[in-house]
Amino acid sequence: MANYVNLVFCLCVSSFFLGLIVLMPVLLVLFASPSSPSFSINIFDDQTLNMTKSDDDSNMTIHFDLKLKNENSAIGLHYPDQLNITFSYFPNVSMIVNLADYKLDSFYQGNGKTRHVRDVVETNSFPRVLDGTDFIAFRVDLVGSYRYKKAGTKRHKVELGCVVGVNVTDNTKMQSGFIKLVEPGLDSKLKKKPPPDYAGAYR
Ligand SMILES: *[C@@H]1O[C@H](CO)[C@@H](O)[C@H](O)[C@H]1NC(C)=O
Ligand SMILES: *[C@@H]1O[C@H](CO)[C@@H](O)[C@H](O)[C@H]1NC(C)=O
Ligand SMILES: *[C@@H]1O[C@H](CO)[C@@H](O)[C@H](O)[C@H]1NC(C)=O
Ligand SMILES: *[C@@H]1O[C@H](CO)[C@@H](O)[C@H](O)[C@H]1NC(C)=O
Ligand SMILES: *[C@@H]1O[C@H](CO)[C@@H](O)[C@H](O)[C@H]1NC(C)=O
Repeated sequence: MANYVNLVFCLCVSSFFLGLIVLMPVLLVLFASPSSPSFSINIFDDQTLNMTKSDDDSNMTIHFDLKLKNENSAIGLHYPDQLNITFSYFPNVSMIVNLADYKLDSFYQGNGKTRHVRDVVETNSFPRVLDGTDFIAFRVDLVGSYRYKKAGTKRHKVELGCVVGVNVTDNTKMQSGFIKLVEPGLDSKLKKKPPPDYAGAYR
């Protein structure tokens, strides 16, 4: 009888620790602070570039592949608001000119999932080279928000961007592949600031 009790006790204790060991990574992921999603873009991804403007070119098309990745293997993400993506260029270092806007509807992204948005926008003008150079400095900005699928978590504001140069002499992109969207640098001062009530939500 005593042996039997010991055996049961032993089994209970070991299954408790076994369970803890198995669950530990899951618990760590759940209770550690989750990571913000990452965004990157490949513009002109499947396009032959010709940046020479002809007299009747009043606009151009920009093909792109936008990659949105939930970096968390154990938590889902909501993008509760429409994501706004803006394509623009710099005619000189003190000015930014809008070329096209693109909207992405609110959506849910499961654990560790990556979403590719491949699409095309038509610009409202033909971009010019950055003054004094032989390249066009395109800028892509993304503004939106996300929220972890976890009770009581707040909405985080996202305001990210990147610059992609295209050499007009040989029609090549100066950076190839996907470019990570990062918090705007000095150039963002050229644009309207986000509303101050979002300031606390930055990560
Ligand atoms: C690029 O476009 C310009 C104007 O439309 C044209 O004159 C030129 O031949 C094109 N270049 C190439 C390599 O297709
Ligand atoms: C930049 O370009 C804009 C529009 O072309 C012009 O109004 C402005 O004076 C330019 N600024 C500089 C510093 O060249
Ligand atoms: C772009 O240009 C084409 C032809 O030049 C024209 O039909 C079209 O309306 C233009 N689109 C925009 C958004 O200006
Ligand atoms: C995105 O654009 C829509 C319509 O232009 C606007 O109402 C909304 O406030 C924008 N979202 C953000 C986060 O700026
Ligand atoms: C653009 O391409 C030409 C020809 O390949 C090269 O000589 C020039 O240095 C390039 N410009 C930039 C800014 O890289």
